[in-house]
Amino acid sequence: MLEVSNLEVVYHSVVLVLKGVSLRVPDGSVVALLGPNGAGKTTLLRAITGLLDIHDGAVTKGSTVLENEKGTHILHERRPEHIVPLGIGHVMEGRRIFPELTVEENLLAGGYALAGHKARTEAERYYERFPILRERRRQQAGYLSGGEQQMLAIARALMARPRLLLMDEPSLGLAPQVVEDVKTLIREINEDGVSVLLVEQNATMALELADYGYILENGRIVLDGPSEELREDTDIREFYLGLGEGGRRSYRDVKHYRRRKRWLS
Ligand SMILES: Nc1ncnc2c1ncn2[C@@H]1O[C@H](COP(=O)(O)OP(=O)(O)OP(=O)(O)O)[C@@H](O)[C@H]1O
Ligand SMILES: [Mg+2]
Repeated sequence: MLEVSNLEVVYHSVVLVLKGVSLRVPDGSVVALLGPNGAGKTTLLRAITGLLDIHDGAVTKGSTVLENEKGTHILHERRPEHIVPLGIGHVMEGRRIFPELTVEENLLAGGYALAGHKARTEAERYYERFPILRERRRQQAGYLSGGEQQMLAIARALMARPRLLLMDEPSLGLAPQVVEDVKTLIREINEDGVSVLLVEQNATMALELADYGYILENGRIVLDGPSEELREDTDIREFYLGLGEGGRRSYRDVKHYRRRKRWLS
């Protein structure tokens, strides 16, 4: 189980982006993290896997703690190379495959911590699952379609056999049918016993997959609850699922608007 408590993150020592975020990913669950552009979703994932350094960011308060069968691990004090071996995988925003490397080299890069032959056996599993990756194994990954690149990025993250997978907008820029494929894949990954923290703009997809969801706005969690409840929440439906009148800028605005409406009536 992953537990983020009261996390504060600052970029360049001055820009406060996460303002005390708390969130839990229980073992075996899928948890959705939703929110508008710039809310701090990617920042939260970077804080968990130790990637803030390279973006000149730092955790200034709070903690990220992983509990697994090997004990309790304080993540925010560790370097990324010590976080992956704890069983955390990260599928980064915008796919971030190595376009110049072949499909196979990309996969093997994800299994760098495994011995050579083991990495190859592991890669075989993903060729079974994604025949297109086997077909293209000797081609540069940059020539794959967007959907294929996303599958490769996910397979690469799985190569290290994580117990917890952080996914940053895996559906971004994909055609509806491919989004369905990604959704099925996430479900399969979870059924294999991997917990998932899923960052998405596609709230409908995320809430269908997730057990629990959090809404992040402007560096703060403004709402959280079981996915079914969030799906039924009128304000969420209106603002995030596009099922209402729409037109309002944020969940917070919707709340203010409703309060005003209640006052007036
Ligand atoms: N390296 C950085 N230096 C300074 N500010 C940054 C840096 N990275 C992100 N930010 C700022 O932090 C805020 C949160 O960014 P973040 O990328 O975490 O948002 P997000 O919720 O992932 O947005 P999106 O949905 O667009 O991916 C934004 O205002 C962004 O401009
Ligand atoms: Mg982002």
